[in-house]
Amino acid sequence: MAATHDNDAACPFSRQARSFDPFGVAYQSDPAEALRFSREDEPVFYSEAMGYWVVSRYDDIKAVFRDNITFSPANALEKITPATPEAVAVLKREGYGMDRTLVNEDEPVHMARRRALLDAFAPDALAEHAPMVRDLVREKLDAIIERGHSDLVEDMLWDVPLTVALTFLGVPDDDMTTLRSFSVAHTVNTWGKPTPDQQVAVAEGVAKFWNYSGDVLARMSAQVDAGKDVHGWMYDMIRQNRVMPDIVTDNYLQSMMMAIIVAAHETTALASANAFRELLTHRHQWDAICRDPALIPAAVEECLRHSGSMVAWRRIATRDAAVGGVTIPEGGRILMVMASGNRDPRHFENPDALDIWRDNSADHLTFGYGAHQCMGKNIGRMEMAIIIEEVSRRLPHLQLAEQELTYLPNISLRGPEALRVTWDPAKNPERQDPSLRHTGRNFPVGAPDRKSIVRRLRVAEAAPLAQNILGITLADPAGERLPSWSPGAHVDIVMPDGESRKYSLCGPADAGEWQIAVLRDDLGRGGSRWMHENAGTGATLPVRGPHNHFRLEEDAAHHVLIAGGIGITPILAMADRLKALGKPYALHYAGRNRARMAHLDRVEAEHADAVELHLSDDGTRSDLEKIVADAPAGSFIAACGPARLLDQLDALMSRRPDLRLRFEHFSSDDSAAELATGQAFDVECTDSDLSLHVPQDRSLLQVLRGAGLDVPSDCEEGLCGSCEVVVEEGQIEHRDRVLTAVERAAGDRIITCCSRGRERLKIKI
Ligand code: HEM
Ligand code: FES
Repeated sequence: MAATHDNDAACPFSRQARSFDPFGVAYQSDPAEALRFSREDEPVFYSEAMGYWVVSRYDDIKAVFRDNITFSPANALEKITPATPEAVAVLKREGYGMDRTLVNEDEPVHMARRRALLDAFAPDALAEHAPMVRDLVREKLDAIIERGHSDLVEDMLWDVPLTVALTFLGVPDDDMTTLRSFSVAHTVNTWGKPTPDQQVAVAEGVAKFWNYSGDVLARMSAQVDAGKDVHGWMYDMIRQNRVMPDIVTDNYLQSMMMAIIVAAHETTALASANAFRELLTHRHQWDAICRDPALIPAAVEECLRHSGSMVAWRRIATRDAAVGGVTIPEGGRILMVMASGNRDPRHFENPDALDIWRDNSADHLTFGYGAHQCMGKNIGRMEMAIIIEEVSRRLPHLQLAEQELTYLPNISLRGPEALRVTWDPAKNPERQDPSLRHTGRNFPVGAPDRKSIVRRLRVAEAAPLAQNILGITLADPAGERLPSWSPGAHVDIVMPDGESRKYSLCGPADAGEWQIAVLRDDLGRGGSRWMHENAGTGATLPVRGPHNHFRLEEDAAHHVLIAGGIGITPILAMADRLKALGKPYALHYAGRNRARMAHLDRVEAEHADAVELHLSDDGTRSDLEKIVADAPAGSFIAACGPARLLDQLDALMSRRPDLRLRFEHFSSDDSAAELATGQAFDVECTDSDLSLHVPQDRSLLQVLRGAGLDVPSDCEEGLCGSCEVVVEEGQIEHRDRVLTAVERAAGDRIITCCSRGRERLKIKI
């Protein structure tokens, strides 16, 4: 869907962008799809229809979340549809006084409060709630298991998170139905578009919710003041209120009470409903988790990415600030559409597909990011995993019923209002084996370890491609199509020693099978030798990915592609893509002689007009100086090959600042353990206000993670750049193979999995 520009030269945004309406049919029925035009062509735009700046790409959304000083969260819970005078009158009459809560307050008070309230979210504390969640789900399932049909939302997905939320908070669960109607009113009030008539009813609901929160709070406060041994996050807050009344104020308690009941349950209820909808629609993925429940935490993460319940969130600019190349003026209101960022192909391969084996799903933005990132994310994850595990174990034959799904119209919270499923009770596995009711499996608290997310693929074919080079075609053993990928992508094959090797993908991207080529290197770390000896036709291999850290910049005016030896695999995929797009490109392919060069026939047949071969045995060695000097201005150079070729190219770039270079190394020379160690140093994390020590035997990445900070990572060998963090001060010892010489010299970013500080570093996280 391309953006349509009209002739209004004064406005830089397309008509489609200016008239974007989050209450329109397109956004309400599929927010990610509605913003495809924006993700592709105008990533930050002003919607006149709503008076907001819309941000749709992954990196831009993350940048806004990350800087909560420039982009204040003060408007996060603002009514998107202003109240009518009648509604205002109702709120006033009822004494409604909702004010700041954690999620919409500025620094420094926000961090002080967040810190004071963190203990209840520690992994050990959360794990204690798991048996309670499981008991609740079992009870709900017992009630329907012989029935053969259910509306999962009504029968389980709403009540379980609400009860868990109330238990976590320590709030008595007196009146679940009333609370449910209150929270729907709160959602419509904050993110919906009620008609003037509905406004009054919504205001009444919200005001009742406010007063209810006050009553419950009073009862709970009395317990604390009477010295009772009571537990729950709300009790923690009440105690903090007694100790530090200036920080945790009275109004704050009541506002938090109301906001958190919604934050903690509606989000999780809707996310779970979305997850069942998606998993049951993609039947082979549902069947896979039924066979292997270890996949469930990864499936939860992928469902949160693909179809999260929090699709958009708001910020307000406190000064003029650039986002994605567009200046948002001071006071500009911002709508970050995480549902769109989560489908950004710059971050997620094949992003529209649901793929529970995707190993970077947990990078999704559904929980926000940075200083305000959802505190309850691990409760939400835990509940979703337990619900899916119980249902898939006891009702693996569950089917989605034919139905028209409906969603409450609003801009942020998304999930079906009802989800009808059917099954044949005669086929319930526990009729044969009653013990199944009790055999639940526990998962660690938190996001799954991405290294544990592995596909087991079959080698459909293994045949020599050139001297010492084995071509391998990988396929799904069950015959399902493997996800498509973009040029420059690679997969990681896990070796028997647990270490992995990366191999670039080549061949048609949407063939449903993956092709790689493996050069045997007897002097290397042993991976390629193992592959040549063991990855024969019919073998099974554990594979992670695909990932892409070597992206083609398709918009460049000209491309120069340089491959050395086996480096042809990603480069050929790029050449295929540029040819399909009809873009001008030059392809340089260097090797010792023809017998050692993979895919040579295809290169010569399909890229005859663009290719120049450089054969060192024939004395036609590549002249990189000339290639760089001759590159048309503004070219994008993509190179893959041996280290000396890439180093030489990197050094030549200082002469041509108008060119952009991206390169990919085959592998790191050092093992992951060697890379992670070195001189100890200290680091100050400015966004999260933490000071940390990185000892000799740990990487910066490990230390940041240990402190609870979310840093994405992929290769953990200094090759992909996904763990990069901005450096504000301090000398860096660069050990990665991803930053160019120019980027290193700038000294403003560090690759945290391997690079270290030469002295104390100040980093932005
Ligand atoms: C904040 C989503 C479950 C408590 C947030 C934010 C989002 C979000 C988008 C704003 C993040 C930002 O501004 O960067 C979700 C989703 C959930 C979920 C999708 C379930 C799938 C929960 C649960 C709890 C909770 C179960 C509590 C028990 C909070 C709190 C904040 C928050 C306290 C404010 C944190 C701060 O501003 O410092 N959540 N949430 N959430 N959430 Fe959640
Ligand atoms: Fe790949 Fe650090 S994780 S460079």
